[in-house]
Amino acid sequence: MSEALRVGIAGLGTVGASVARVLAEKADELTRQCGRAITVTAVSARDRTRDRGVDLSGVQWFDDPVALARETDIDVFVELMGGEDGPAKASVQAALERGKHVVTANKALLSRSGVSLAAIAEKNGVLLNYEAAVAGGIPVIKTMRESLAGNSVSRVFGILNGTCNYILTRMEAEGISFEECLADAQRLGYAEADPTFDIEGNDTAHKLSILTSLAFGTKISPDDIYLEGISNITQADIKAAAELGYRIKLLGVAQRSESGIEQRVHPTMVPTSSVIAQVHGVTNAVAIETDILGELLLSGPGAGGNATASAVIGDIADIAKSRPGFQHGPVFGRPAKELAPYKKAAMRKHEGGYFIRLTVHDRTGVFAAIAKRMAENDISLESIVQRAADPQIGDHKTVILVTHSTSEASIRKAVEAITKDGHLVDKPQVIRIERPA
Ligand SMILES: NC(=O)c1ccc[n+]([C@@H]2O[C@H](COP(=O)([O-])OP(=O)(O)OC[C@H]3O[C@@H](n4cnc5c(N)ncnc54)[C@H](OP(=O)(O)O)[C@@H]3O)[C@@H](O)[C@H]2O)c1
Repeated sequence: MSEALRVGIAGLGTVGASVARVLAEKADELTRQCGRAITVTAVSARDRTRDRGVDLSGVQWFDDPVALARETDIDVFVELMGGEDGPAKASVQAALERGKHVVTANKALLSRSGVSLAAIAEKNGVLLNYEAAVAGGIPVIKTMRESLAGNSVSRVFGILNGTCNYILTRMEAEGISFEECLADAQRLGYAEADPTFDIEGNDTAHKLSILTSLAFGTKISPDDIYLEGISNITQADIKAAAELGYRIKLLGVAQRSESGIEQRVHPTMVPTSSVIAQVHGVTNAVAIETDILGELLLSGPGAGGNATASAVIGDIADIAKSRPGFQHGPVFGRPAKELAPYKKAAMRKHEGGYFIRLTVHDRTGVFAAIAKRMAENDISLESIVQRAADPQIGDHKTVILVTHSTSEASIRKAVEAITKDGHLVDKPQVIRIERPA
C-alpha cells in the first residue's frame, strides 16, 4: 500500500473539529476506498486548551497556521479558519507556493482571491479543492467542474443560505414576523449573533460568485452582484405570494443575457409548484440549466459540522486517490489564465416578471391611475388585485400587481411615477419572479 497522505488542518471549530473526528472514526473505510491511509499530522487553532472532541495527542500543534502551511512535511493543507484575508489567505498561499495541495471551505477567501490562488495551484501542479465552500455538503462544485463537461450553462440559481431559508420557511408556516423568526434562529444556533452577512445576502453572493465562474468560465467578480436581503419581507408579502401561487425564497441567480452576465441575490417569487419552492428550512439547493442535460437540481444540507466535513473529506480523499505525476484539472474548470473577464449585464436590463405590492390611499381613481402608469411603461399585467381597506389600519387599500415579463428599467420608472403621483402611504414593495425552466 502507498504511504499515508499527511494532512495538516488549520481551524478546529465547527467544521475543522468535525473533519478531524470523522477522519479518525472512518480511518479504515477511507483507507480501503483511497488505497492509502489519511493521517492528520499537524493542526492549528487559537486555543490549545479547548477540547475538540477528538484525540490530538501525537499531532503537532501550531499556533501560527502560516508556519503549519509553510514548514511542515504535509501533503495537504486544510484551511478551515475562515476570513477573506489574514491568516487564511496567507496560509493557503504559502501551502500552494510550496507545492502542497489545499482543501478549503472558505467562500469569502475564494470569492475575493480564488483566481490568483488557482493560478498558483496550477503553476505548481497541485490541487485547490473547495467543495464545501458552496452549499456545504452538496457536491455542486464537482458536478459543475467534472460531470457537466461539454454542457453550456445558461442559468444557475439556488438557495445558498440556510439561515435565510429557515426564516422564510417559518414566516410562511407560522405566520410570524421576520424579527421573531430571526430571534429564534439565533437562539437555535442557525443564525450568527451578527446575522447581517446572512440576511443581507452577502454570504449568498460569495457562493454565487464562485458558481458564476464555473458556469460561464469567467473571472470571479464578487463586487458586481446586485444585492438585496430579506429583512424587508413582511407577512403581507408572504400571504399575497401564497394566494397568487408563489413562495418567496432568497435566491442567488447567475444568468447569461444579451448584455452580459447577470449576478443577482434578492428575495424571489418562485411558483409554489416548482421543485425549488419545496426546499424548506436550512436545506440548500442549486439548479443548473444546460443545453445538453436540461435542468438539474441538487438539494441537501448546506451547512453544519458533519455535512460540511463530508465535502471536505471528499476533497481530501480525491487527493489521496490521485497519483504522482497525474495532471490535475484546472481549479475553476478551465485554466485560471484563460478565465474570461466578467462582463456585467446592467440590472436595469434584467427581464422578468414582477410582483408589486402597493399600500394606497382609499380614493377614487387610484386603481385606474396605477394601471395607467403601468401601461405607459409598456408593462402588461398578469393580474391586478385590490383589497378592501381594513378599518383597523385606516383609510388604506392594498393593490397587488403581477406583471408579465418586462424590464427592470420599466418597473423602476412606473413605480417612481406612481410614487410621485402621491397615491402611496407606504414604501412600494417590488419582488422579482423567477421561473424555473
Ligand atoms: N459552519 C458551517 O456550517 C460552514 C459551512 C460551510 C463552510 N464553512 C466555512 O468553513 C470555515 C470554518 O467555519 P467554522 O464554522 O468551522 O468556523 P469556526 O467554528 O469559527 O472555527 C474557526 C476555527 O479557526 C480557528 N482560528 C481562527 N483564527 C485563527 C488563527 N489566526 N490561527 C489559528 N486558528 C484560527 C479557531 O480557533 P479556536 O477554536 O481556538 O478559536 C477555530 O478553531 C469558514 O470559512 C466557513 O465559511 C462553514
